[in-house]
Amino acid sequence: MLIENEALLHHWYVVAESTDVADEPVAVKLLGRDLVVWRAVGGDVVAAPDRCPHREAPLSEGTVHDGCLVCPYHGWKFGDAGRCVEVPSSGTGKKVPPAAHLPTAQVRERYGLVWLSLGEPQVDIPEMEAESDERYRRINSGVQVWNTSSTRMTDNFLDISHFPYVHIGTFGIAQNQDVPKIEMEQLDADFFGYEYEVEVRNEDGAASSGMDDAVITRRMTTGFNLPFTVRSTIHYETGLDHLILLCSTPIDDVTSYFTFVIWRNDDFSVPAEEVIVFDRAIGAEDKSMLEKVKGVLPLDQRATVSVQSDKPSVEWRRRFADMLA
Ligand code: FES
Ligand SMILES: [Fe+2]
Repeated sequence: MLIENEALLHHWYVVAESTDVADEPVAVKLLGRDLVVWRAVGGDVVAAPDRCPHREAPLSEGTVHDGCLVCPYHGWKFGDAGRCVEVPSSGTGKKVPPAAHLPTAQVRERYGLVWLSLGEPQVDIPEMEAESDERYRRINSGVQVWNTSSTRMTDNFLDISHFPYVHIGTFGIAQNQDVPKIEMEQLDADFFGYEYEVEVRNEDGAASSGMDDAVITRRMTTGFNLPFTVRSTIHYETGLDHLILLCSTPIDDVTSYFTFVIWRNDDFSVPAEEVIVFDRAIGAEDKSMLEKVKGVLPLDQRATVSVQSDKPSVEWRRRFADMLA
């Protein structure tokens, strides 16, 4: 199983949005592990195995009181950093057994997202400079579950040759099937990818592009950050930048969380929900296609046939396989 590869532990993965973690424990699953996530008294998000050390009750079925996670079975309480702070049957003020503390995972909150790592991440969460640029606003889209592998998702997000087929219902143009020669380059410190121009149908996407024309040209870059983060930047001739961070998280080998985050330097006049209707519809098209394809993407490149337009995903797959080895 891919998710059992040790190297995957040492990376950051999105499991929820920050707003999902409020006053109740939240059950999430990462790399086949059941976890509970809650917001502790100081406001930090804590993540731990969804298993009470006492009699293994699922802690996500419990409650949060004053920032403490309370087990639903015998009421043991876990505070900041997962420390067991109270065992009710022992009476207050009594010492708790050291093994009662929860082994926590590393957590970061960035871009309105909750990122977890089950290991010791050597590489930081990829940098989105627009986050600290006041000309841009950020729009979060919610976290979905897709019945497909994160490998197939990443492969798909790097691929433009499916536009005239999968995206014919949104921005794809049937006759635009040739993909110009792709040159891969280091786009910046965190993303490796390529630049390209693409004509898109814009009728339904006017709220997103800010333009009325039926067909418009987008200048784009698409790049990846290992293992499964993809960034697409769209530049319109009006000066509008529309940046998309696409995050795929392996729940297990064939199920993934998906979320995307948008940053745009528009005049903030169109409500966020309207802006992302188009991107949501595009995501639904990819989801529908990917859920028809079985299993994980073979990492042996000889097991599938690739052509020139697959260069970005072939390069991602090569580096991903190296990372796992
Ligand atoms: S199982 Fe959690 S307190 Fe007993
Ligand atoms: Fe797509």
